[in-house]
Amino acid sequence: MKKNTLIFISLYLFCLNLTAQQKDVIRIETQDQAIILTAESDDKVIFQYWGRKVNSTAPFLNRKIKGQPDTSDDFASQLYPAYGGRYYLTPALKLTHADGVLTTELVYINSENKALDNNRTETVVHLRDKLYPVFVDVRFVAYQRENIICQSVEIRHNENKDIKVENLASSYIPLHAESYYLTHFNGTWSSEMLMEEEELTHGIKVIETKKGVRATQSESPSFLLSIDNPANEDTGEVYAGTLAWSGNYKLSFELDETGKLGIISGMNSFASTFTLKAGKKLQTPEMVLAYSAKGTGQISRNYHDWARKYGMMHGNEVNPVILNSWEGAYFTFDEKTLTDMIDSAAKFGVEMFVLDDGWFGNKYPRNGDNAGLGDWQVNTKKLPRGIGYLADYAVNKGIKFGIWIEPEMVNPDSELAKKHPEWIVKSGKRDILPMRNQWLLDLSNPQVQDFVVKTFDDVIALSPNISYIKWDANRHVDNVGSEYLPAGEQAHFWYEYVKGLYSAYERIRAKHPDIQIQLCSSGGGRLEYGALKYHDEFWASDNTNALDRIFIQYGTNIFFPTIATASHVSTSPNHQTGMMTPLKFRFDVAMSGRLGMELQPKDIDSEDYEFATKAIENYKRIRPIVHLGDLYRLVSPYGKNGWASHMFVSKDKKEAVYFAYSLKYHGRTTYLETKLKGLDPQKNYKITELNTRGWNRSFYGDGQVFTGDYLMKVGINLNIGNPFDSSALMLTEE
Ligand code: DGJ
Repeated sequence: MKKNTLIFISLYLFCLNLTAQQKDVIRIETQDQAIILTAESDDKVIFQYWGRKVNSTAPFLNRKIKGQPDTSDDFASQLYPAYGGRYYLTPALKLTHADGVLTTELVYINSENKALDNNRTETVVHLRDKLYPVFVDVRFVAYQRENIICQSVEIRHNENKDIKVENLASSYIPLHAESYYLTHFNGTWSSEMLMEEEELTHGIKVIETKKGVRATQSESPSFLLSIDNPANEDTGEVYAGTLAWSGNYKLSFELDETGKLGIISGMNSFASTFTLKAGKKLQTPEMVLAYSAKGTGQISRNYHDWARKYGMMHGNEVNPVILNSWEGAYFTFDEKTLTDMIDSAAKFGVEMFVLDDGWFGNKYPRNGDNAGLGDWQVNTKKLPRGIGYLADYAVNKGIKFGIWIEPEMVNPDSELAKKHPEWIVKSGKRDILPMRNQWLLDLSNPQVQDFVVKTFDDVIALSPNISYIKWDANRHVDNVGSEYLPAGEQAHFWYEYVKGLYSAYERIRAKHPDIQIQLCSSGGGRLEYGALKYHDEFWASDNTNALDRIFIQYGTNIFFPTIATASHVSTSPNHQTGMMTPLKFRFDVAMSGRLGMELQPKDIDSEDYEFATKAIENYKRIRPIVHLGDLYRLVSPYGKNGWASHMFVSKDKKEAVYFAYSLKYHGRTTYLETKLKGLDPQKNYKITELNTRGWNRSFYGDGQVFTGDYLMKVGINLNIGNPFDSSALMLTEE
């Protein structure tokens, strides 16, 4: 070896050694928050802190955390605890090595930090097992302006045989406080995203689903965690997370004997052990994390800003007002029914007509939910001139056209089910259990992915005038199993199904970047950022009853933006609940999201017709504020007094819109007085009441000018109090 080479190698080894001695402080920062880690080569990476930004990080290098009584070890939390070493709480990683050893001890290799652009910074912490060639990368992307941090993990190995990955979380968060208040979101079909807050006690609280598809319908992979006090809109430290994953998930909150809380979030490990081959990678979904020192309101505004830019499609453009055919026609229509609806939609000022379920299937016509799913050919009996005729008809009336599909599903009574029984999710020879009379196609199979992509392409090809697709999914997974996956990899189904879905989404989006796509999934069934990233909006619930929607949308909009919240005015009595509510109330509720209509327009009488037309016109005025502005929640519907109120403020604070609802009979007992939020105290605002009927006014100051300072300190009081009274006010800078 040449002398120079020898000198170079010695120098290199010397530098490596220097690095090994060094203790690193790793900072993951956005404008208002920081996660701080400390790391030393060949030692554990310590999760030191998550909270408000601190101006000095040096003290973290010598920070000591109280030890366990029977060891001398530092008790500090790790960044990514694996099952092994002294760790005895629920680990973020559990795997079995090729030689059968059950434990893993992750130590620090190094970390990388780079700016992705002027708003995003990526930090990757590289870890490895002390003894085995197993490598784990923990990746953070910090979004400066939106104050969001996304965390994900990748594992790979070079062992001489496969390893079994039993649990691989997306994130582990250790917190230490006097008490913790967890808000989680649950429900069922037609009553999604209802909120429950509880003080955590010792032990483990788990939020999870094993449903596989339509995974968010009864629990959401999202949480709010308030420190020391129940969550408040404007004050207090709040941590939040929502998992971007369309399959099984598990969030666990473990309060240990020292008062420390460990939050582990990620894919559900239930029946999902992953056999990982040498040289292959396994990647977790992203956990989208937020922190606020100023309560929950700021958390939501951060998520909404982030979502519009990074978490959904076309989030910087307002979405159109839609008439959807479902509740107005269900499966029973012909061409005339639909052209009549389009005529009315155009007269109302609606901007898009969407043809829902029921337009396809010939041998097995889709005249109910029991046949035809999978056969995506136009039903020639109902629509002899095809979809092209209808789409052209709509466009000629000046409105856009959209159409419904449910490409992952199949009715047993369909040509597809007979042709491709091997595509259906089934558990060996066991019965395939139907749900809503349908079976699930096996998206882990690339042929099924091709079919789903082709279905989308073929439907779009029905007319150049189709500009919107409503993508439904109306069942979850029972009796799991895949004829495509090998016997030894059946447990991969949960992961591969979602990966197959994302691959189909990717291909569809590469080809159809401008088509608007609604994430429907029976309402609220795929309410997470893994899927929303490819969509323009979601159907929050099949329940269109305005009173229920106030609660559903309240929970939904904690994490997901109003621009994406499809919210439709339906008929009264409501089809799901039988409840009767005034049209004004229904509009005032639906106008807080992406407004649409879900009814048969010909059933609307002339007085209501005039009101609806005017309300849609009003909505178009306030839409940029609702879709692109900031949401401030004023009165929670969960409060004891039976009111709800919130407002939206434009980013430049020149305009705002305020909504208030009476949820029960108040008589003379109380009246609603709310202090407004988010305005500029220096500005003068003229208040105009919207959606009025006759001479009725809910606000005495209609047409008057108030200062922002007055409105935020004194507030406004309203003359509403009967059940389903409501008020909509627009504020404009004078
Ligand atoms: C469930 C959806 O949520 C509804 O809006 C409607 O599209 C039906 N499916 C159609 O089958």
